[in-house]
Amino acid sequence: MNVLVTREIPEAGLRLLESFDVTVLSEQPPGRAELLEAAHGADGVLCTLTEKIDAEFMDAAGRSLKVVANMAVGYDNVDLGAAKERGVVVTNTPEVLNETTADAAFMLLLAAARRLGEGERIVRAGEWKAWGPKMLLGPDVWGKKLGIIGLGGIGEAVVRRAKGFGMEILYTGHSRKEEAEREFGARYLELNELLQESDFLSIHTPLTDETRHLIGAEEFEKMKSEAVLVNTSRGPVVDEAALADALESRRIFAAGLDVYEEEPEVHPKLLKLENVVLTPHIGSASIETRDKMATLAAENLQAVLSGKEPLHSVNP
Ligand code: DGY
Repeated sequence: MNVLVTREIPEAGLRLLESFDVTVLSEQPPGRAELLEAAHGADGVLCTLTEKIDAEFMDAAGRSLKVVANMAVGYDNVDLGAAKERGVVVTNTPEVLNETTADAAFMLLLAAARRLGEGERIVRAGEWKAWGPKMLLGPDVWGKKLGIIGLGGIGEAVVRRAKGFGMEILYTGHSRKEEAEREFGARYLELNELLQESDFLSIHTPLTDETRHLIGAEEFEKMKSEAVLVNTSRGPVVDEAALADALESRRIFAAGLDVYEEEPEVHPKLLKLENVVLTPHIGSASIETRDKMATLAAENLQAVLSGKEPLHSVNP
């Protein structure tokens, strides 16, 4: 059977595919024409979030296509409707990246509050003249209120870290999480109340039609002026232009971003602002976790091609 792997992935995943006829594309995201051409005749595709897997792609693959195994927990790059119409199974890699992504969210939260980027830039530019009683002041993190938007596996892992910092936990989402309420003393609030009460906000919701631009100009108006926003989920959940305005006008104190609306493009205004920490979508980028993601994606693909149930189908 033919398997297309759209990017160079960790060896741990590739090793599991040795019984197939595997084509691995480049380290960088393939161009659209290259991707469509490579899809032809594939029985299975192991892809990443940089590839748009839509009806055109599935038709280019043809009727042999049985499975699209996305090496990511988010699967907004895959058209599930088109997959359903063609009987293609779509899988993802949840859970294995929860702790690592939570580390990254907390890293951004601390870095944005304590102005790590600014400090680094000053030191590297040789502009640090002396210790200063009022130099680079930012809000304390410990003991503050953390609002989680989407208390799933990653959100909960962030909460565990926050408890070590003595933070009070607030959350919003589709449903109440009674176990988390008992375990962490987390308080459920509607989004508007969460925006008003939180000192820190961390977004962990998938990108859907409902969550696109969930946080925009109106929402920034409701937030505290000393609030810090962290996004490690998907860029389009936040209206980037509105965020840039809110940061520029100091409507909020700072932000830490790992994801963007038009990756790898970043809103030009954000690039100029000091009060935002920017990382290039590396939330899950630990050596161990990327191995696990590649392995799980390969296991999902292998299961479907062997006529078995995959571990994590998103369109069962
Ligand atoms: C995901 O898995 O969805 C991340 O964005 C990449 O790790």
